[in-house]
Formats: sequence, structure tokens, C-alpha cells
Amino acid sequence: MKQPALPNNLELVVAPDAASLNLAAVEEFCRSAGAAIAARGRFTVALSGGNTPRAVHALLVEQQRDSLPWEKIFVFFGDERHVPPDHPDSNYRMAKESLLSQVPIPQQNVFRIQAELPADVAARKYEDSLREFFQLPPGSWPRFDLIFLGLGDDGHTASLFPGTAALNEDACLAVANWVEKFKAYRITLTFPVLNHAAEVLFLVSGKGKAEIMREIVRKAGNAVYPAQMVRPEHGRLLWMADRQAAGLL
Ligand code: 6PG
Repeated sequence: MKQPALPNNLELVVAPDAASLNLAAVEEFCRSAGAAIAARGRFTVALSGGNTPRAVHALLVEQQRDSLPWEKIFVFFGDERHVPPDHPDSNYRMAKESLLSQVPIPQQNVFRIQAELPADVAARKYEDSLREFFQLPPGSWPRFDLIFLGLGDDGHTASLFPGTAALNEDACLAVANWVEKFKAYRITLTFPVLNHAAEVLFLVSGKGKAEIMREIVRKAGNAVYPAQMVRPEHGRLLWMADRQAAGLL
């Protein structure tokens, strides 16, 4: 796949179309899972929300439902809308429909954000589940093997939206974040968690993201958008886009 000349050694892979982008994402999921399981006997991954992941999940089911050791795979979420798990807007519902109900992953391996609760309670409970699972001493951060992220056309990622309080969070692993434009709370992982990951994979598809992608790449050296503040300190940052989303680069 094409690798355009980029500033600040930002790693960007451009796929010819959405289908090959999905394929590349599945390949990266499998590569990362294989390496983590070989090294540590388990794979910890945080899924992103929105629409883009659906097709990736479907391909993962089609290609890997009987091949990956799902009992060694532990699934978390980068963020969640403040809705019950059966709500049409729920990221968990999207992941359950498109992936989790289609593969033999044990229920106890899926860590849902309980967004039916008050937002701050949901965030606290999610943080507690992260601390317990990763056996975190106070003041330390989980190191996910892989975190999938999407890109909003305003430059947000997870539920870290421009101008919101969560952008400044440097102590909690997960917070309730008021998003004025939706007049609603979201629950989101915070930058320190994203930036402690072993790998972060942004997946960007469609011409609707071409403008923001150009902004992100052009200003790669000077973080203006929340998505640009994701820079794993000791991990890989990989952007994958299809040609439509990368059309203005
Ligand atoms: C969410 C996501 C969000 C998403 C981007 C891109 O809860 O909506 O976590 O960060 O990844 O908004 O969404 P699309 O894939 O639908 O373009």
C-alpha cells in the first residue's frame, strides 16, 4: 500500500479502498494478537465506536472466528455513549452485533462500560475494572496491546472532543466527559491510557474525512486536534486510511 511522504515520521498506510482498509486492519489485529499471546499468553484490545469498525468486525468474524484463540483475547472499549447497552447509539451494541456475538469469546473477557448508570459512576466502575484486570499499582497505567481509534471530522477521537474537560485529564484512566454539542455525557479512556498503549491504530475511511486528515497530517508537528495528542510514549502509532480519506494528502 502507498506510503505518502509525511512529516514527523507519522506512520500512515493508505489502502486503495475501504475493503482493503478493512483487510489491513484485520491483518494488524491478528499480527498484534499473535505477538501478544506468544509473549504474554493474552491479548488486550480496546475497540473504537462509531460506524467504521463495523465492517472490520464483520471481516474479523468471517476470517478468524474459528482461528483466533478467543479465550485469550480480552476486549475493552475506548469510549461509550451515555446510553444503555441495547440503545442504537451504544458502541457496545455495535460491537456485540458485529463481532462479540459472532465469535466464541467468553463473556467474562469483555469489559463493557456500564453506560446505563450515571456517567461518573460508569466511568469509575470502568476504571476499577481496568485497575483490577491489569493489576495496576496506584499511579500506574494499563498498557493495552492494541487500541483502535477512529477520527471524527472535528478531530476528536474516542470521546475526547475539542474543547472538552477530558482533554486535560491526567490522573484518571476513564472519565465522564460532557460534550456540549451533543448536550450529553460520554465515557472515555483518557490520553494517558491511550499514550501508554503498545500500539494505537487509527482507522479512517471515506471522503468525509479527507479534510480533517489533511489537517491532521499538515499540522502533525503541532497538535491542534485531540487526535493529534495521541502519541504512544513507548508504542507504535499507526494511521490507516483508504484512498478516499487520504485523497487530499
Ligand atoms: C464514537 C467513537 C468516535 C468515532 C469517530 C469516528 O463513540 O463515536 O469512538 O471516536 O471513532 O467519531 O466515527 P465513524 O467511524 O462513525 O466515522
